[in-house]
Amino acid sequence: SQVIGLIGAMDEEIELLLSGMQTARKTVKAGITYTEGMLHGHRVVVCKSGVGKVNAAVTTQILIDRFGVNSVIFTGVAGAVNPELNIGDIVISSTCMQHDMDVTPLGFARGIIPYQDISEFAADSRLIQLAEMACRARGDRYLTGKVLSGDQFVASRETVTTLYTEMGGACTEMEGAAVAQACHMNGAPFVVLRSMSDKADGSAHVNFAEFTVEASHRSHQIVEYMLQHF
Ligand code: ADE
Repeated sequence: SQVIGLIGAMDEEIELLLSGMQTARKTVKAGITYTEGMLHGHRVVVCKSGVGKVNAAVTTQILIDRFGVNSVIFTGVAGAVNPELNIGDIVISSTCMQHDMDVTPLGFARGIIPYQDISEFAADSRLIQLAEMACRARGDRYLTGKVLSGDQFVASRETVTTLYTEMGGACTEMEGAAVAQACHMNGAPFVVLRSMSDKADGSAHVNFAEFTVEASHRSHQIVEYMLQHF
């Protein structure tokens, strides 16, 4: 039967999911705690990956191998890259790509993983639709677009401009593309949901501190709606 993996990078991003779960069982593997249980009538496995692409990739592979997860939803916050986005707005991944994959000296465009056919990983259309339905029903401002991931907290206007004009990003964060690539390698559908905590500019550190809890909760509420309508 269907098992849904729910990942966040930080405690703020998963604490509400955990508090709503029934018959929870905890297992630790590779230092990550996986909590199995029921949420809105669905079998789910909730976990905190920790920050960054390696944590996200390992966590996703374990969710698939060890816990038999057949779809993955990532919930969390991000820095806005598309200038139309404000703090609190939602980005639903159409695709995910690593902005720090840089083999440009060998002639590959930024983000391209050399010698493999796909570098931009497409989210599942049904999960995208479900997330869009949640945003519309709740009246959230949202955009379905490219999520750019890298092992960097982006806090400069120049970088944001590059990520937007050169890579067409909607937002930037530190896990989505790793989850996406691990899911692609295993044939598992995924979607990344991110609420904007900052604009990845010179004020990003201040805004992130101020808005992360609120933005995390917004992203969490969308996941709840999705599970209710899954
Ligand atoms: N997550 C939230 N804001 C971010 C930023 N500016 N850069 C990377 N990850 C983020």
